[in-house]
Amino acid sequence: MNVKIFDTPEVQDFLKTVAGFDQKGGSERGKKITHRILSDLYRTIDDFDITAEEYWSAVSLLNALGQASQFGLLSPGLGFDHYMDMRMDAADQEAKRTGGTPRTIEGPLYVAGAPEFESFARMDDDPDLDGETMWLHGQVRDTTGNPVPGAKIEIWHCNSKGGYSFFDKSQSPYNLRRTIIADAEGRYHALSVIPSGYGVPEGAPTDQILKMLGRHGERPAHIHYFVSAPGLQHLTTQINLAGDKYTYDDFAFATREELVVEGKRVEEHVEAKQHGADGPVTEVVFDIELSPTEKDELQNRHKRPRAMESESQESQLAGTATV
Ligand code: DHB
Ligand code: FE
Repeated sequence: MNVKIFDTPEVQDFLKTVAGFDQKGGSERGKKITHRILSDLYRTIDDFDITAEEYWSAVSLLNALGQASQFGLLSPGLGFDHYMDMRMDAADQEAKRTGGTPRTIEGPLYVAGAPEFESFARMDDDPDLDGETMWLHGQVRDTTGNPVPGAKIEIWHCNSKGGYSFFDKSQSPYNLRRTIIADAEGRYHALSVIPSGYGVPEGAPTDQILKMLGRHGERPAHIHYFVSAPGLQHLTTQINLAGDKYTYDDFAFATREELVVEGKRVEEHVEAKQHGADGPVTEVVFDIELSPTEKDELQNRHKRPRAMESESQESQLAGTATV
């Protein structure tokens, strides 16, 4: 079959009907966007002579993705998360909001409501026998170099096996997830375990799509951050640990040169010891610079559905869900 029908009036009229152009109700923006996406897909079917078998296998794969709640996992792999970052970077540039630590993707594995501490937090609730002890610290400053006392720093990362608490039910709910309020000098400290790299689950729908593209689903060892303070631009970022096989080959496209940090092994770290470390530590230092802004919407993280940000999920965790 090698028919080309996309440009016929019949198909063009049909697309308008499908997108609800002739209907009064609904959302104008939604209709236009749907019309564009459907047009691009119809054209793709025509141009590549997509067979019925190919089409229905794609439908089935999308069902499997949804069933496994993996759209959020696939999204970074297909570069959408990084593309959104590129657009926000460009908007910052245009508005002359320059400087500060670069943003990079949030990823799909944040959980709201982690325990909060002042200045220092121990992050590991569960034993991790294969894990190296991590002593992680830094200072939050504004772009003129002034420390930011009371900055709110949310940190989350996976364990030495690449699993994130909440999603990996073998871990305690907030293992390796903490909120730290910076001290009077804008400093924060955490005792934790060095995370390993992360890989999308083998054989899962996301993995099948990446394999079809000849790609892997691996991320380098990384640590996620949300950092915020009044009058400063909210920052979503990560650090990538240097020396990982995937530091510069991240399937989620989150690595940025300024965010690659080298861990340093210290046999006897006095401060870490005072905070409970009982052997050598790998010290990771990450200072953060925030840009000034008066805009409320830039001082807060953007809205998106996040685990534990709704009441029903909180009661689910407590085992009291009724629906
Ligand atoms: C994915 C996992 C992560 O830990 C992350 O930071 C980004 C993306 C993922 O599975 O898509
Ligand atoms: Fe991650």
